Amino acid sequence: MIERLAVIGVGLIGGSLARALRSAGVVGEIIGCGRSPANLELAFDLGVIDGCTRDPAVAVKDADLVFLAVPMGAMRATLERISGQLRPDAVVTDGGSVKGSIVADARAVLGPALPRFVPGHPIAGTERSGVGASFPELYQHRRVILTPLPQTDPTALARVRLMWQTVGAEVSEMEVAHHDEVLAATSHLPHMLAFGLVDALARMQGNEEIFRYAAGGFRDFTRIASSSPIMWRDICMANAEALSHVLERFGEELTDLAGTIRRGDGEHLLEIFSRAKSARDAFIDRQIADPLVALPEPIGADEPPDRRTGMEPGSGRSGPGGGADDQMPC
Ligand SMILES: NC(=O)c1ccc[n+]([C@@H]2O[C@H](COP(=O)([O-])OP(=O)(O)OC[C@H]3O[C@@H](n4cnc5c(N)ncnc54)[C@H](OP(=O)(O)O)[C@@H]3O)[C@@H](O)[C@H]2O)c1
Repeated sequence: MIERLAVIGVGLIGGSLARALRSAGVVGEIIGCGRSPANLELAFDLGVIDGCTRDPAVAVKDADLVFLAVPMGAMRATLERISGQLRPDAVVTDGGSVKGSIVADARAVLGPALPRFVPGHPIAGTERSGVGASFPELYQHRRVILTPLPQTDPTALARVRLMWQTVGAEVSEMEVAHHDEVLAATSHLPHMLAFGLVDALARMQGNEEIFRYAAGGFRDFTRIASSSPIMWRDICMANAEALSHVLERFGEELTDLAGTIRRGDGEHLLEIFSRAKSARDAFIDRQIADPLVALPEPIGADEPPDRRTGMEPGSGRSGPGGGADDQMPC
């Protein structure tokens, strides 16, 4: 049972966890924290949180569990703000998409609270943002990766593991650097391809015609280019090394493909496409047998709208960093 949960960043990821824990009946009080009063008020009106503040230090007061779900670029400042304000037994965890950078931040900032910090990453999401996009089933039958440190307190780790299991997730553990390499390839690279493709086409002459005749395949492939630009800028910057490496490798593959087409080497094209088709078919077959095989972050988690609030998320929520205020019913 969680007595008091502090959710710093009540968006898709933080809001969905709050909703799921409340649905499971395992949380007493939920305090939300963010910058814009509008998003916090919406969270309160939707029953996602019981009270709110714009100051992380106020949010974590008396909380026994703290969940950080702000964009990666805001993690360091958030950790700095809560450091020294935590209850001595409070467990802190996060949902950030990159683990190396937040672990470095936590090591630099958390001091004696470091053993009770459990880095985590739910492999679940959609291309939408804000509390309006959150829904309690987001984590059901999804993987959550925890990347504990050598000094992580086993009790804190067990508590976070149980929290995710309670909301229906399958929890596994991974080493921090390995997590960032795997996610660079399976999630961050596909997002770069979608953003890059749509941006390139949008800047081409005659792009209106290109978009007019684009069909379902284009829509499927580019859906994730509707994801939050701020979130993805932060992910790229936090995982720059692993992501640049995989992007360079993929660039070489594309150059080879272009050369093969230019040479008119149909046999080699057939070889590439057949290999890719078999790999994807096998992946889909494994996914049917075990839905947890998939590692889609925002990819593939397109929930039907009736499972959400139906509200368009994010719009007009992104005011400048607000000043501290006291905790308030929203
Ligand atoms: N979306 C996904 O598919 C997905 C999947 C797995 C993990 N993640 C990770 O989960 C985290 C949250 O992502 P999300 O999709 O939930 O994003 P989101 O829907 O945009 O929510 C982010 C929340 O953080 C608040 N926030 C934004 N900037 C802030 C700042 N500078 N200081 C304090 N609060 C701030 C936002 O509210 P205000 O704007 O009102 O402050 C909002 O409540 C990110 O670290 C992301 O990498 C995302």
